Amino acid sequence: MELKGARILLTGGSSGIGKATAQLLASKGTELLITGRDEQKLAAVAKSLNVAYLAADAGKEEDIQKTFEKVDQLWGGLDVLINNAGIGKSYKLEELSFSAFEEIFRVNVYGAAIMAQKAVERFKKRQKGNIVNIASSAALKGYPGGSVYSASKFALRSMSQA
Ligand SMILES: NC(=O)c1ccc[n+]([C@@H]2O[C@H](COP(=O)([O-])OP(=O)(O)OC[C@H]3O[C@@H](n4cnc5c(N)ncnc54)[C@H](OP(=O)(O)O)[C@@H]3O)[C@@H](O)[C@H]2O)c1
Repeated sequence: MELKGARILLTGGSSGIGKATAQLLASKGTELLITGRDEQKLAAVAKSLNVAYLAADAGKEEDIQKTFEKVDQLWGGLDVLINNAGIGKSYKLEELSFSAFEEIFRVNVYGAAIMAQKAVERFKKRQKGNIVNIASSAALKGYPGGSVYSASKFALRSMSQA
């Protein structure tokens, strides 16, 4: 797709893969909105790239709502959603708990799904749009300690296929 001028929402844009992606996309002339929970860290990255930002948790419905209100206010539409924000904690079997699954799945799976739902509402107006879900090689093969993370990334991959 043509990147110049594309309106792109990128979650978790303040460090790691998300920050590197934001740098690359900003250099290609896109319109970018990046999110993350730590506003100070996020604002520093956004200001250095001259892109928009919003402190929002991708695992909270009210923050997802707020994120798309910002998208509408900035652009009145959206071309690309990149679900990058993710939690990558490891747990041994004996350490597993419902809360460990809930914390990781809330961001890696549920949040990504609801973000996609809201993005598609905007895409439908123009009958086009792209969603990129950042999974992992852990979405293809489990590993010791990966019961929760790997399961979440398998879920994200199959959700993307669905
Ligand atoms: N690093 C790897 O080797 C690797 C390999 C395969 C896949 N991945 C996947 O790639 C993605 C990025 O990983 P990374 O290693 O670059 O992570 P990272 O360096 O820890 O950065 C994560 C980014 O997401 C934000 N974030 C975390 N939880 C969030 C939430 N609930 N809502 C909004 N933003 C949130 C963080 O900012 P705040 O903390 O301020 O919110 C930060 O900007 C993840 O989905 C991860 O599973 C990573």
